[in-house]
Amino acid sequence: MAITDIVQIRDLRFKLILTPEEIAKRIKQIAQILNENFENQEVVAVSVLNGAFIFTADLLRELRFSVDCRFLRIQSYAGTRSSGTVHVANPEVLDLEDKHVVIVEDIVDTGRTMHQICEIVRQKKVKSLTVVTFLHKPDAMVVSAQIDYVAFVIENEFVVGYGLDYDGLGRQLPALYQLVND
Ligand code: IMP
Ligand code: MG
Repeated sequence: MAITDIVQIRDLRFKLILTPEEIAKRIKQIAQILNENFENQEVVAVSVLNGAFIFTADLLRELRFSVDCRFLRIQSYAGTRSSGTVHVANPEVLDLEDKHVVIVEDIVDTGRTMHQICEIVRQKKVKSLTVVTFLHKPDAMVVSAQIDYVAFVIENEFVVGYGLDYDGLGRQLPALYQLVND
């Protein structure tokens, strides 16, 4: 798909803020750190659906240690605002006792989702817990949450692309776009 500077999704316009090349370069840097941390280890990657599926696919293909990839189904957003309520639809993927666990998330916004996921995962007697997020909006944070590695810190504006959606649309965009307020 060609990269354009502006995309229109339904009623909203978004502008390019991260190119596929910038994203790929940063993911390689994070993967390198994880490859050092987990050399010769076996790790369970818990990818938070739906938003993290593209970040997970790109990050995991750079990892050189053994990875058991699982997908956690969570829902907490409607439109462009967080509902604040987190629901785990498939808790069976959280059978994590004695495992090194890496949570892979698309974005830590208010922090509510990551806070609640970590609370649940810590109760599973895991060997270690590492949180990797593609994006972080520090100015939106209302609940503190564990974050170990952030690919990109961004402004407190709604974004789409690279897995993130506006009402289900825009996830397939290979770049990241920010809402234009006009
Ligand atoms: P939280 O507010 O930190 O709990 O974030 C909850 C979820 O909302 C994230 O995992 C994303 O899936 C979604 N989300 C947060 N900010 C954005 C955004 O700017 N665009 C699209 N989805 C978002
Ligand atoms: Mg998410």
